[in-house]
Amino acid sequence: MRRWTPLKIRALKGKEAFATVTCYDATSAALIESLGPDAFPLVLVGDSVGMTMQGHDSPLPVILDEMVYHTRCVGRVLKSPMLIADLPFGSYQTGDDDGFRSALRLIKEGGADGVKLEGGERCATLIRRLVEAGIPVCGHLGLTPQSCLAMGGFKVQGRDAEAAKRLIHEARILENAGCFAIVMEGVPSSLGKAVTEAVSIPVIGIGAGADTDGQILVWQDLLGLTMGHVPKFVRTFGSLGTAAQAALSAYRAAVAERSFPAREETYE
Ligand code: KIV
Repeated sequence: MRRWTPLKIRALKGKEAFATVTCYDATSAALIESLGPDAFPLVLVGDSVGMTMQGHDSPLPVILDEMVYHTRCVGRVLKSPMLIADLPFGSYQTGDDDGFRSALRLIKEGGADGVKLEGGERCATLIRRLVEAGIPVCGHLGLTPQSCLAMGGFKVQGRDAEAAKRLIHEARILENAGCFAIVMEGVPSSLGKAVTEAVSIPVIGIGAGADTDGQILVWQDLLGLTMGHVPKFVRTFGSLGTAAQAALSAYRAAVAERSFPAREETYE
């Protein structure tokens, strides 16, 4: 059992804002763990893996086997944060039975502590079933990347009063269905605040302003590893991409001038 549980995460509601992060591999999980057991209550193996690790331009192509694989990689190393894995596109939209089986695979084969899925009312019966079976569920509302075809891209949601009202309503549905937390993505900050106030479970924001209970960022974005466009809501807290470029060029130069490997790096 990992240190952080849904109960402990629920208790963070209304307290000091907490940070969470995505993760897809064991090296990164070890770095997260190295900050100490209380640094991050939750780590998400997001289907953003499709973009960050697989080079797709959306999460749509990601399949359940790949989510299981990445969840296992992270789970071998992660000891403290709750490990949540995304149900990928197509693994639960075909019916609650399929969704239930997909979630079971993430738990039994992937070693996840819970699952995340996108959508409100349409997911309520599946969420209820998972929670009744003892599987913690995190909801995801607002800009839901698995709906990028229908949304016409990755666009801010809930801008007009009607859409905002609907999202608040859906957040309440997710809470009633048994979610222990909700990710709120890509909405105006006023709506991020309104949803946070409307439910008694933690709301984890990404592009949802500063008033949600917690924040989540994609690993590559926050560390400055993303080589292309990053959304407006991202702050890069490091320059690991630049550091990696410098290291790669130093390695290349050292090989070219035969200063690498040096004597002490050579077996006599
Ligand atoms: O897939 C993902 O990484 C996510 C986060 C951005 C919340 O859903």
